[in-house]
Amino acid sequence: MADDTTDTKSSNQMWGGRFASGPDAIMEEINASIGFDKKLFAQDIRGSIAHATMLAHQGIISTDDKDKIVHGLNTILSEIESGNFEFSRQLEDIHMNVEARLATLIGPAAGRLHTARSRNDQVALDFRLWVKEELQKTEQMLTNLIAAFLDRAEEHAESVMPGFTHLQTAQPVTFGHHCMAYVEMFGRDRSRVRHAIEHLDESPIGAAALAGTGYPIDRHMTAKALGFREPTRNSIDTVSDRDFAIEFLSIAAIAGMHLSRLAEEIVIWSTPQFGFVRLSDAFSTGSSIMPQKKNPDAAELVRAKTGRINGSLVALLTIMKGLPLAYSKDMQEDKEQVFDAAESLELAIAAMTGMVRDMTVNTARMKAAAGSGYSTATDLADWLVREAGLPFRDAHHVTGRAVALAESKGCDLAELPLSDLQAILPDITDKVYGVLTVEASVASRKSFGGTAPSEVRRQIAFWRARN
Ligand code: ARG
Repeated sequence: MADDTTDTKSSNQMWGGRFASGPDAIMEEINASIGFDKKLFAQDIRGSIAHATMLAHQGIISTDDKDKIVHGLNTILSEIESGNFEFSRQLEDIHMNVEARLATLIGPAAGRLHTARSRNDQVALDFRLWVKEELQKTEQMLTNLIAAFLDRAEEHAESVMPGFTHLQTAQPVTFGHHCMAYVEMFGRDRSRVRHAIEHLDESPIGAAALAGTGYPIDRHMTAKALGFREPTRNSIDTVSDRDFAIEFLSIAAIAGMHLSRLAEEIVIWSTPQFGFVRLSDAFSTGSSIMPQKKNPDAAELVRAKTGRINGSLVALLTIMKGLPLAYSKDMQEDKEQVFDAAESLELAIAAMTGMVRDMTVNTARMKAAAGSGYSTATDLADWLVREAGLPFRDAHHVTGRAVALAESKGCDLAELPLSDLQAILPDITDKVYGVLTVEASVASRKSFGGTAPSEVRRQIAFWRARN
C-alpha cells in the first residue's frame, strides 16, 4: 500500500467539514481499509458508473457532468489496472480514493457523484458484486473438480477396493463408486453456491446511509445495469446485511470440509502401507533428508486450509453478532475474512482437481486389500439367507463362526474347505464360493445407488447429463 504523506493534521477532505483537525496516526491506522478493500476497485467503479448514469437519466445531475464522471472513472480504472494509481491511507478506503482522484481529474463535477448514496450502500454494493463473481468462479471450479472425478469413476467403475467403516475393512466397493461419493458431495456444494447466488442477487445501491433518499432515483435501473435481479426491499437491512458474505463463508467451510476429507484419504492411500494411489511428481514433494520419500504436501495443505476457512466463518459470525441496526464500522472487518477464505478455497479446489486427475491408481493393491479382512462375510450371510433360508440374524451367527474358523486357520473365507463350512452348517453347498470373491460381492450390490459397476455407470450417466 502506498501511503501518502501529506499533513495528517488537516481534516479529511471527504467528511472533514465539522472536524477542526485530522485524525491521530493510530486512528488513521485502525480506520483505514484501503490496504485490503482496494481489491474492490473494479466493482466500485462499475457501481459508480451505473449510479451516475441513473442520476443523469433521472435529471438529478446533468448529462454533461455524468459524461465527465464516467470518463474520469474509466480513466481511474485503467490507472489502477496498469498499476499507475497511488492509493492513500489518509483517504481511508477504496470509495474515497476513487472519488478523490476523480476530483483531481474532472474538478467540481466529481462532487455530484455521491448524490443520493452513501458509502454504506456503496460498500454493500461493491462487496456483493465481488462475492457474486467469486461464487460464479467457485461454481465453475467445482464443475471442473466434478468432471475430474467423473473421468476417474468411469475408468474405475469395475476396480475393486475395500470399503471402510471406522477405517476398518467393511465390504468391497468399487473405486468408481468411491469417486462418485465425492461427486455427490461437491455437487451439493455447487448447488449451495447456486442458491447463494440467487439469494444475493439484489442490488443494495440507493439504500443510501440507511433510510433511502429524497432524490427521485430509480433503483430498478441501477439493479438492472449491474446485473442484479431486482433492488433490495428494505434500506435498513440493506446496509446492515452481510448474510451474503457469511453464506459464502459457510459454503466455503462445508466445501473445505469435503476437500479436507478427500485430502486425508489421499494422504492415507498414498502411504507405502496402503499404496492405493501414487501422486504425480507435480503434486508431491521430496524430503531434504530421506531420499526415499514422496510427501503428499498439497493434500496436507488442502486439509489445513480448511482450518483457515473455518476461522474466517467464525470470525465474521462473531463480528456481526450483536451489532445493532444499521451500519457499524465493525462491518469493515468482513472483507479480509472473505478474501482470505476465497483464496484458500480456490487453491484447495484447484490443487485437488490436479491431484485427482494426475494420480496413478494401483488397482492390484486395492483389489488385494479388498479381499483381506473377511470383507465378503456379509455376502456369505446373505447367501445363507437366500439359498439356505436362514433368518438374517442366524445367518450372521453362522458367518461369524466361519470367520472365526478362518481366522484360526490363518486363511480367507474363500479358502475354507467345504467340509469346514458344512461342519458349521450342513446346508452349505459349493455354490457358496461364487459369492465369496470380491468381484461377485460388488457385482451383487445392484440396489439403487449401490456399488455394482452397473449402478456406478448409472450414477455417472446421471452426473454427466447434469455437469
Ligand atoms: N470502508 C468502509 C467499510 O468497509 C466503507 C463504509 C464506511 N461507512 C461509514 N459510514 N463510515 O465498511
